[in-house]
Amino acid sequence: MIILSPSILAADFTILGEQMKKAEAGGNEYFHFDVMDGMFVPNISFGLPVLSSLRKATEKVLDVHLMIEAPERYVDRFIDAGADIITVHQEACVPLVETLEKIHKRGKRAGIAVKPHTGVGALEPYLHLADMFLIMTVEPGFGGQKYMEMCTDKIRTLRGMLNEKGLDADIQVDGGITRENVRTVLDAGANVIVMGSSVFGGDITDNSAYFTRLFSEYDNK
Ligand code: DX5
Ligand code: ZN
Repeated sequence: MIILSPSILAADFTILGEQMKKAEAGGNEYFHFDVMDGMFVPNISFGLPVLSSLRKATEKVLDVHLMIEAPERYVDRFIDAGADIITVHQEACVPLVETLEKIHKRGKRAGIAVKPHTGVGALEPYLHLADMFLIMTVEPGFGGQKYMEMCTDKIRTLRGMLNEKGLDADIQVDGGITRENVRTVLDAGANVIVMGSSVFGGDITDNSAYFTRLFSEYDNK
């Protein structure tokens, strides 16, 4: 199944709940929640209190992307705050296997993310341990960047690695995805599509409905 995960980083925080409702009217399944600590990435976004509030504002899956150093320190608290999926960066999480286990023990889904210049080979040892793999298609830290074409091959290679082992984990892409390039990442094998500017820029409900419709067409292809 192909899933739309609007990144709230691109929303207007003065009317965040309202904007999420507009996206939901278009049919998205997830919301993507970008946590940045100013250490792992050169930006600071939002954290636990905001997630707890959003938990009360939506029934949708809260897909939490931890762009923080040593994310294992905060996994329990993000789950307590309402996260349904927790994705940690392979580059930032030393006890990666234990962290994935900890997320699963709490009954949540676990993802591993890699930055554009980290090869998918780094994911090889974990293919059977995670529910989702996040291929960053921009350098993490900011919304509104341009899709990095070099990442298309990474998506295709990772989907091939998973297929070879008979694993049907999700492949998430994140950063610079638009109406123009979304088919490229779908055809390469991505099935959880994060979009910030392409959903929250312009008519939110219309954008959400456009991608939701496109994804169901792809699912029925
Ligand atoms: C970037 C974040 C992305 C970003 C996506 O570090 O992980 O989720 O918010 O925003 P767009 O779709 O505008 O590139
Ligand atoms: Zn993200």
